[in-house]
Amino acid sequence: MTDDGAGTGTAWQLSEEQQLIRRTVRDFADQHVDPIAAEIDEEERFPQENVKRLADLGLMGMLVPEEYGGSGADAVSYAVTIEELSRSCASHGVIASVNNSLVAFPIHRWGTDRQREEFLPNLCNGGLGAYALSEPGAGSDPAGMKSTAERDGDSYVINGQKNWITNGSHADTFIYFAKTDPDERHRGITAFLLDDDMEGFEKSQPEDKMGIRAAHSVSLMLDDVEVPEWRILGEEGQGFKIAMQVLNGGRVGIGAQAVGIAQACLDDSVEYADQREQFGQTIGDFQAIQHKIADMAMKTESARNLVYKAAAAKDAGEDVARIASIAKLNASEAAMDNAVEAVQIHGGNGYSTDYDVERYMRDAKITEIYEGTSEIQRTVIARETMGR
Ligand code: CAA
Repeated sequence: MTDDGAGTGTAWQLSEEQQLIRRTVRDFADQHVDPIAAEIDEEERFPQENVKRLADLGLMGMLVPEEYGGSGADAVSYAVTIEELSRSCASHGVIASVNNSLVAFPIHRWGTDRQREEFLPNLCNGGLGAYALSEPGAGSDPAGMKSTAERDGDSYVINGQKNWITNGSHADTFIYFAKTDPDERHRGITAFLLDDDMEGFEKSQPEDKMGIRAAHSVSLMLDDVEVPEWRILGEEGQGFKIAMQVLNGGRVGIGAQAVGIAQACLDDSVEYADQREQFGQTIGDFQAIQHKIADMAMKTESARNLVYKAAAAKDAGEDVARIASIAKLNASEAAMDNAVEAVQIHGGNGYSTDYDVERYMRDAKITEIYEGTSEIQRTVIARETMGR
């Protein structure tokens, strides 16, 4: 049995460097995230001050090489980072996850030299990126999007609306998907790199959400936004394939976020069970509580191991569509199950905002919805497993 540095005794062997990253992120979270997590949730305040701090630690461009301002880390280190941030605050986890895996990674993977030089140093150093795929009528079915990009000389003119754009309020760089051929479904979609100060580009106020309230989600309204051709990411018509491959990596990040939430539920429940006394003994002395803790520990360990396995497969250059969906589905269900049990163990106290488990329960739910609902993950896993 080895220790992964989280004090959980998992059998997964992290390298020295990966363990150092875990300790660094934990120290950061203890110092800068834990003290504000409840307050920014209540106030729906975006933790802008911590974006720059995370960037200074090299945690906002982890999958980008150093020559573009990133830290050139592997995907397992990245998963460990998102897990540890989310253990303190799931909003911080998704803010970092979107910037790293949905924006900086694809710009490096599919971008031209000009695009890499123009966008990556900013994204790695405190600027923020957002991924604009979902629309009011196209959530689980992004190929049904209505945004259009019509060619006009050396430019494209984009019109459309996007919804639920995480980081949208503070982002300056957007990957925006639009149809260059509206008669086609997925083959007509192209990805564009946009700045938020382009003429005709509008953002809504942040949505009032159940959970991850400090990670702002906005709508975007584009009215005749003129975009020069050099801002196409990849090739015209390749946008859907890019979107799906990016989401394969993004789902590992959301899986890691869910592991962090699951671990936080377990940590708080163990602590509470040791302190809370009823019938003349701590509630942790009751087998009913011990069995809940055992199930929570089992789910957290299995979720963590699958997420690290998916991340390691990405590092090995494998096709991760199936394992990323398995890891995300399993981890998000572990987070939700653990959150429900953590509230139950805390009883009436768990139902109040005085205890963090109430926030964990609201935050856990989104991991079963974004970057592909649990139903979509099951569809992907079934297709990949059955070869359909
Ligand atoms: N990896 C790589 N390629 C993939 C892929 C994957 N996971 N899924 C599909 N593709 C490819 C297919 O191989 C196919 O390629 P060809 O053109 O060569 O045949 C092409 O994409 C089209 O595939 P489908 O015919 O299967 O497409 P579809 O329209 O039936 O949709 C789907 C498939 C799996 C349901 C997909 O639409 C999907 O994943 N939906 C969920 C969308 C989602 O996750 N949205 C999240 C929004 S972003 C977000 O949430 C960010 C945030 O806030 C934090």
